[in-house]
Amino acid sequence: MDNIQIVERAASPQEFIGLRKAVGWGCPGEEAVKNGLCGNLFSVCAEHEGRIVGHGRIIGDGAFTLYIQDIIVLPEYQRRGIGMMIMTGIMEHIKGNYGKGTMVNLMSARGKEDFYRKFGFFVRPDDNFGSGMTQFL
Ligand SMILES: CC(C)(COP(=O)(O)OP(=O)(O)OC[C@H]1O[C@@H](n2cnc3c(N)ncnc32)[C@H](O)[C@@H]1OP(=O)(O)O)[C@@H](O)C(=O)NCCC(=O)NCCS
Repeated sequence: MDNIQIVERAASPQEFIGLRKAVGWGCPGEEAVKNGLCGNLFSVCAEHEGRIVGHGRIIGDGAFTLYIQDIIVLPEYQRRGIGMMIMTGIMEHIKGNYGKGTMVNLMSARGKEDFYRKFGFFVRPDDNFGSGMTQFL
């Protein structure tokens, strides 16, 4: 899409909460979000005319275990390649800054597995790996 910029920066807590709400996700309180975003290893925002329209971030130990989180594109901007641009920026950062053997993880939303397969991810469980597991407090 024309005039979309991928900018290396963290979303503000208000931007982050707004994006999550726009795609129907719940969100912790603003203080928790503020503290959580301080823990980002790397983040990108997609901007259109100065407004945030998409986001992605990496969390993890900063050495060999990474999690890609909160890949979000505003509904009215989806299916125009912005998600691919965000993931491309994230994967370029990972490949440029982390070594062989680094484990890169993510939890796919239902039905989005093919989107992530394009970037080399495989679905668990398979013959070698068990399921990913989650608990919400
Ligand atoms: C998942 C998500 C980030 C993808 O963002 P997006 O900007 O729509 O992604 P892209 O446009 O780059 O690609 C998505 C699909 O649109 C297709 N597409 C891209 N441009 C297109 C166009 N002009 N016309 C039609 N389809 C197009 C892509 O081929 C891709 O197809 P696929 O998903 O079937 O493989 C977005 O749907 C989203 O925010 N969803 C809600 C939050 C969510 O579930 N996030 C993922 C958490 S794991």
